[in-house]
Amino acid sequence: MKSLHGKVAVVTGATSGIGARIAEVFAAEGAHVVLAGRREHEGHQRAAALGESATFVRCDVSVEADVEALVGHAVERYGRLDIMVNNAGGPGNMASVTDFDSAVFTRTLAVHVAGVMHGIKHAGRQMVAQRSGSIINVASLAGKIAGWSGLDYSTAKAAALHLTRCAAVDLGEHEVRVNSVSPGFVPTGIFAKGSGADASAADATAMSVAEAFKPMLDSSQPLPGTVRTDDIAAAVLWLAGDASRLVTGQDLAVDGGMTAGRPAASSRAERTRMRDLLSS
Ligand SMILES: NC(=O)c1ccc[n+]([C@@H]2O[C@H](COP(=O)([O-])OP(=O)(O)OC[C@H]3O[C@@H](n4cnc5c(N)ncnc54)[C@H](OP(=O)(O)O)[C@@H]3O)[C@@H](O)[C@H]2O)c1
Repeated sequence: MKSLHGKVAVVTGATSGIGARIAEVFAAEGAHVVLAGRREHEGHQRAAALGESATFVRCDVSVEADVEALVGHAVERYGRLDIMVNNAGGPGNMASVTDFDSAVFTRTLAVHVAGVMHGIKHAGRQMVAQRSGSIINVASLAGKIAGWSGLDYSTAKAAALHLTRCAAVDLGEHEVRVNSVSPGFVPTGIFAKGSGADASAADATAMSVAEAFKPMLDSSQPLPGTVRTDDIAAAVLWLAGDASRLVTGQDLAVDGGMTAGRPAASSRAERTRMRDLLSS
């Protein structure tokens, strides 16, 4: 039997990138999926491609009433909610802290922290009543180590990681689990969006982003290869399903080892350089 047979899932930020792939994988595993995002054309198209088991709801996660209506749609249509994936997010802003615009900072927190909070709150209410459910938040390696994204984004993702733990201990007695997945660098449109490109045009740039990342990943990521949306979806699928039934409050890093440390080759090259310098 398919691993999510008959389960009901909501995925925010499912109009492109990681969220779109999670929705596809969930549908292939037998779930009814409600896709959410702000772009209606893309959302309806993606839901239609998944067949009758998928619908799209327009939702800005920073607006609590939108998220409440999104969860309400899933429950009204399917009678329950088993999986909530709080994945929606946008790029960071690269200004220095000394120049940071507080309105920009507040907006980033509204999407990446309040947006996740809204999802946990409204999915959590339904799941507490059911006494079951799995909530997965998409965080980031940038929430664990500094210097890989804007300070607003990195701070917000760090908050999302701790919110995951706080909600997990809050909801555990109701048999509701809350975990997160922290992607490393995944080629999606988010990077071109950060450079100001139109959202739909940006989504088409994923492959060129992969090329642009290569030199940086070679020196920073212990495992060779590019982290793909498939890799994130596989981790989210495991956290969504019964195989992880006693896992809560945890973060699963899918980053090729970047948050574990530097690749051995980088350290070796530096030690050799140091030895040559000291012996000359
Ligand atoms: N790609 C990476 O390297 C990477 C690394 C670490 C973490 N992440 C995280 O992974 C998640 C997905 O990003 P991605 O790389 O797949 O980028 P993406 O392709 O740009 O997808 C972002 C999704 O979030 C939606 N979204 C943005 N703001 C929203 C809002 N206020 N309300 C509702 N939906 C919103 C977008 O849809 P609409 O435009 O239709 O609203 C889109 O579906 C984000 O949380 C991101 O921070 C990505």
